[in-house]
Amino acid sequence: SKSYTVTLLPGDGIGPEVISVARNALQLIASIEGIEFKFKEMPMGGAALDLTGVPLPEETLSAAKDSDAVLLGAIGGYKWDNNEKHLKPETGLLQLREGLKVFANLRPATVLPQLVDASTLKREVAEGVDLMVVRELTGGIYFGKPRGFGTNENGQEIGFNTEVYATYEIDRIARVAFETARKRRGKLCSVDKANVLEASMLWRKRVMEIASEYPDVELSHMYVDNAAMQLVRNPKQFDTIVTNNIFGDILSDEASMITGSIGMLPSASLGESGPGLFEPIHGSAPDIAGQDKANPLATLLSAAMLLKYGLGEEKAAQRIEAAVLNTLDRGYRTGDIYSAGLKLVGCKEMGEEVLKSIDSKVTAI
Ligand code: NAD
Ligand code: IPM
Ligand code: MN
Repeated sequence: SKSYTVTLLPGDGIGPEVISVARNALQLIASIEGIEFKFKEMPMGGAALDLTGVPLPEETLSAAKDSDAVLLGAIGGYKWDNNEKHLKPETGLLQLREGLKVFANLRPATVLPQLVDASTLKREVAEGVDLMVVRELTGGIYFGKPRGFGTNENGQEIGFNTEVYATYEIDRIARVAFETARKRRGKLCSVDKANVLEASMLWRKRVMEIASEYPDVELSHMYVDNAAMQLVRNPKQFDTIVTNNIFGDILSDEASMITGSIGMLPSASLGESGPGLFEPIHGSAPDIAGQDKANPLATLLSAAMLLKYGLGEEKAAQRIEAAVLNTLDRGYRTGDIYSAGLKLVGCKEMGEEVLKSIDSKVTAI
C-alpha cells in the first residue's frame, strides 16, 4: 500500500490543538483508503526557540524537506514578541517557506451554505462566494533587501524594508494563477499598487505579458485599496485573485471573514518541486490558546489540501471535505461560527464529530 511521510509542525498557541485533530483525521482516512502515513512531529516557532534556541532548527527543516508533505499549525505568541528579528517565531516560518521554495500560496475562501449566517456580511452579499487568493509567498517586502534599522540625516532612528520583485518571480506566480483560474471560472484579477510602486508597475507589465499564454482566461487589474473595498462590497465579482506577498496576507484575512471566520480558511503553499506546506491562514490565537476553543476546521481543510495538492489523493481529500460539511449539517459549531440554536462545542469535540462523519463514509458533495 502507498506510504507517505508527513511532517507535522504543531507550533504554538492553538497550533498543537488543531494539529492533533488533523492528525487523527488523517490517520482514520488512511485506514479507510488503505494508505499509510508516517508522521514526524518536529518543533517549530516559539516551541523550537524554547527547546533549541532557534525558531527553525536544522533538523526540522531537513525533516520537512525529506517528507512528502508538511502540515503546520501556527506559530508565535506574546512570550517571543520582543525577541530580536532572527529569534522570532515568525522568522522561522519565513525560513521554512523560503527553505521549501514554496512561492505559491493558495488561499481559497468559500462561503459554505451552512455558514452563510456566520458571515458578517448580509446573506445576499455572502451567499455563494467562492474565490481563490493566489499569494506570492517567498518574495516582495517580506524578503527584499536592503532592510534593517539605521539612522537618518536628522539622527532619527529608522526602520526600512524593500518591496522588490524580479520578472522570474512574477512570471512563475502569474502562471500558477492563470492555471488556477483556468480550472475554476476562468477569471483572474491581479491586485497591485501600480499607480505608486515600481515593483507593482513591473508586476502589472509581466502579468499582462504572461496573459498572452492564457487567451481563455479573462484578466483584470485592480489597485489593492479598491480590492479591499470591493471584497466587502461585492465579493462575488471575484474568481481568482493574484497578488504579492503582503497584499495577499492582508486580503486573505479580510476574505476569511466573508466565510464566517478566520478559523475556516486553509492554505496550500507549493513550489516547482518538493513537498508542499499546508497550514491554516490563522495564527496561534494566544487569546484562546489552551482553552479548547479553537476552530479546527481550517486545519482539517488544510489537511484536505495536503491530500489533494500534496499527495494527489483526491478521494481522501474529498472525504475530509465531506465530513466537515456533514459535521456542520449536524449542527456542531465552535464559538467563532456559532449562532443560536446550534450545538456549541470545543476544538476536541468538533474534531471527534468530524471523525464520526469520516467513519460514516459520507459521500462527497
Ligand atoms: P490570529 O489569527 O492568531 O488571531 C486573530 C483572532 O482570530 C483572535 O481573536 C483569535 O482568537 C481568532 N482566531 C484565530 N484562529 C482561530 C481559530 N482557529 N478558531 C477560533 N478563533 C480563531 O492573529 P494574531 O492575533 O494577529 O496573531 C497571533 C500570533 O500568531 C502572532 O504571534 C502572529 O505573528 C502569529 N501568526 C502566525 C501565523 C502562522 O503561524 N501562519 C499566522 C498569523 C499570525
Ligand atoms: C500568515 C502569517 C504570516 C505571514 C506571519 C506569521 C509571518 O500572517 O501566514 O498569514 O505574514 O505570512
Ligand atoms: Mn497572515
